Amino acid sequence: MRIAIIQGDITTRHVDAIVNAANSTLLGGEGVDGAIHRAAGVRLLAACRTLRTTTLPDGLPVGKAVATPGFKLPASWVIHTVGPNVHAGETDPALLASCFTESMRVAEGLGARSLAFPAISAGAYGWDARDVAEVAFDAVRRYAAASPRTGLTLLEFVLFSEETAGIFREVHG
Ligand code: APR
Repeated sequence: MRIAIIQGDITTRHVDAIVNAANSTLLGGEGVDGAIHRAAGVRLLAACRTLRTTTLPDGLPVGKAVATPGFKLPASWVIHTVGPNVHAGETDPALLASCFTESMRVAEGLGARSLAFPAISAGAYGWDARDVAEVAFDAVRRYAAASPRTGLTLLEFVLFSEETAGIFREVHG
């Protein structure tokens, strides 16, 4: 599994799936959630609304992941996950690790070979970017060790700011 650390806008990435740092309502927001909904178009919100009226009536729990099509995005799918929110007292790294692991599991199930992650929880949800990077790379290492024949061959970490990209590069080594 190759890891690429990129400073940029995740909505532009030509990968099979991109991960959205959503909230439990799945009905959009600011940050990367807002950017993905804007770029994907209104059908993304409609697909999320359908999830809420069918399989996810109570919304998406923290640490879980669910896929929708990518619609107008270059990516074929969006994998929505809900990171832990420091401001709500959600400081357990296992919750954040689950976002990465569950997103990879869902991507694998879709047959995706390339997947792009933002820095989940490192914005509005208040986690320190360095902690997010450490949790993310540890979760990827564990996933790769547990699934040596994974179809996921490329993971991109797409960081909006050069500062965050620098932190991810430093932690990755
Ligand atoms: N591409 C890549 N990364 C982005 C983009 C983008 N277009 N826009 C923002 N980011 C970065 C932020 O700079 C931050 O480093 O994504 C990281 C995560 O920040 P948020 O989007 O605020 O996500 P999070 O901290 O998980 O908070 C989620 O914010 O937008 C709402 O609906 C969302 O309620 C949820 C909460």
